[in-house]
Amino acid sequence: MMKGVILHGGNGTRLRPLTYTDVKQLLPLAGRPVSEYALMNLIEIGIKEINIVIGDVGKSEVQEYYGDGSNWGVSITYTYQGKPLGIAHAIGMTRGFVGNDRFVVVLGDNYFQSGLKSLVDKFSSKSFDTLIALTKVNNPSQFGIAEVSNGKIVSLVEKPKEPRSDLAIAGAYFLSPAIFPIIDGLKPSWRDELEITEAFQIMLDREMSIGYSVITGWWKDTGTVDEFLDCNRMVLDKLDSNVPTDYEYSSVNISGRVHIGKNVEFKGTTKVLGPCYIGDRSVIEDSFIGPFTSIGVNCHLKTLEIEDSIVMDGSSLEISDGVRICGSLIGSNVSVMPTKSKSRTIRLIVGRDSKLEL
Ligand code: DAU
Repeated sequence: MMKGVILHGGNGTRLRPLTYTDVKQLLPLAGRPVSEYALMNLIEIGIKEINIVIGDVGKSEVQEYYGDGSNWGVSITYTYQGKPLGIAHAIGMTRGFVGNDRFVVVLGDNYFQSGLKSLVDKFSSKSFDTLIALTKVNNPSQFGIAEVSNGKIVSLVEKPKEPRSDLAIAGAYFLSPAIFPIIDGLKPSWRDELEITEAFQIMLDREMSIGYSVITGWWKDTGTVDEFLDCNRMVLDKLDSNVPTDYEYSSVNISGRVHIGKNVEFKGTTKVLGPCYIGDRSVIEDSFIGPFTSIGVNCHLKTLEIEDSIVMDGSSLEISDGVRICGSLIGSNVSVMPTKSKSRTIRLIVGRDSKLEL
């Protein structure tokens, strides 16, 4: 029986300041952590035993959220990696869990819209030692890159300065325990990590068989704010609308695909233009919620115009001068209120690495 591993460690430096306090893979896309989509990808291909590798940031939050997996009908256990010493290092730590089984590793910040079915089918039908997922990108120096010739992988390089192809290695690796002795022989790279791409290159050098499949569906590494918002758009675009027809929205005008959570309250005159997601118990008052917006649970929005943005749980936002919030990622329990001052002053209490465009 194939097992599954989700990598949930790392520092998430490119998503600061949110990742000073929050684990990047738990940041929400339409009300679910990014890594829950990875979990669902594993469940969809029939995997029942899953190990989540956690790092130092928010390790208890991850364990609290996923528990023993029973909410999803699978078994979930945890491996503590501590410092992010590399993807290969994280995988190396799971050998006790893996035992003699074949397994699939998914990076917890990667989003595979079309799932992993075609990959697992190809891996299961041939006797590959490893199968990787490739996808065309337009910024190949940001990824592990595979060079392919006559249907075979000929080289694999991590974040090459001069890429030989535009085929990036996406974060789903189908592996066998044969990877572990190779990981044991790796040396830290220039970024001081044990690189999985280097482990794959060593497998090639030793003429082990590495298959690949070019994925057709949409794929995203959600490592930066812009990528995260891109992914939010993509997830919202596939959202099922759940606006009940008999719901009495006296003063709210809802159009497009919109998910409205339980006990959401609309007050005053509000317009919601989908696709958007509004979490449970949020209160929306005299506002415009525009396309591609995800609002968390227990938020309070007043006289707000917002589109193409994410507002996380428990935030209160009130802006009254007609400014529209756009392309924004707003953390949990944030408060944005009109100034009480009569002079032209504003008051900012913002943490390190915050970004404000006023
Ligand atoms: O997203 C695809 C890319 O992911 C691949 O094309 C690259 O070959 C691969 O190296 C990786 O590159 P990144 O630099 O984007 O990896 P990142 O540091 O963001 O880590 C990927 C995931 O693995 C993320 O969910 C955090 C987790 N991780 C990472 C490290 C370094 C761990 O759990 N432990 C670690 O030590």
